[in-house]
Amino acid sequence: MNESTAFTFTISHGDDPADGWFPESVAIGYDSPGGANAPEVVGPIVEVLEALADGGPVLEFALGTGRVAAPLAARGLPVSGVELSRAMAARVPGKPGGASVEVTIGDMTTTRVAGHFSLVYLVFNTISNVVTQDGQVDVFCNAAAHLRPGGLFVVEVGVPDLRRLPPGQDSVPFAVAPGTEGGGYIGFDQYEVAKQRFTSNHVTVSPDGAGRFRRVPFRYAWPAEMDLMARIAGMNLKFRWAGWDRSEFTADSVKHVSAWQKP
Ligand SMILES: C[S@@+](CC[C@H](N)C(=O)[O-])C[C@H]1O[C@@H](n2cnc3c(N)ncnc32)[C@H](O)[C@@H]1O
Repeated sequence: MNESTAFTFTISHGDDPADGWFPESVAIGYDSPGGANAPEVVGPIVEVLEALADGGPVLEFALGTGRVAAPLAARGLPVSGVELSRAMAARVPGKPGGASVEVTIGDMTTTRVAGHFSLVYLVFNTISNVVTQDGQVDVFCNAAAHLRPGGLFVVEVGVPDLRRLPPGQDSVPFAVAPGTEGGGYIGFDQYEVAKQRFTSNHVTVSPDGAGRFRRVPFRYAWPAEMDLMARIAGMNLKFRWAGWDRSEFTADSVKHVSAWQKP
């Protein structure tokens, strides 16, 4: 075990522990412009999901603040979502299209919402927020239970970064960003390969030197393991792309967008 695993995530004042890793202190900055919220990032996701939805209705697992669900609903699709964090979900209705999204607070491993859907989707690596294999299988089974025959379960998730880990090293940096007025941000993933887990570490230092260290645990799984989870849930792989541009998935792909179909 590495020494730094002794650190634990501390809830900021005012955060509700029931909101998990995405409490108010995180939700407040989640919709900052740029990055994952940039129109050139969100636009292609929404276009692909709309095309796959075949008119809907659609269900998002781990809806967050409605980054994807709200613009999808704004295009006229009936959209529902399951989300663990009330702080995140509270932001959905304020977005264009968001007021029509049916939000259910709950855990995507177990929570059922009424109806059957043409598409269930789970994006932005969030399958990995479920840190046990049983839990991830439960997500696949729950998705299948919400699909009508012929419906699709779409997952967007990174390919485990293990090829960047030389022997004896357990951490992979993904961001080093000095601030313009001092301080800055450092992000790195720390792997526990024997447990098929990793922890994302976010170190933010403000110009006055005050720091915040946030750690979020994940479980990684290879695409082939997810195919097996889908089979356990009674679904079969329909396609696997390297991204929302529908490009071919290869040995060098850093993430995949996969769809499994309920027969
Ligand atoms: C990275 S955010 C993604 C939000 C949204 N899907 C997006 O693309 O912006 C992850 C979200 O998953 C939620 N989440 C994590 N585990 C969950 C679970 N077991 N059930 C429901 N929501 C969960 C978190 O609360 C958080 O809002």
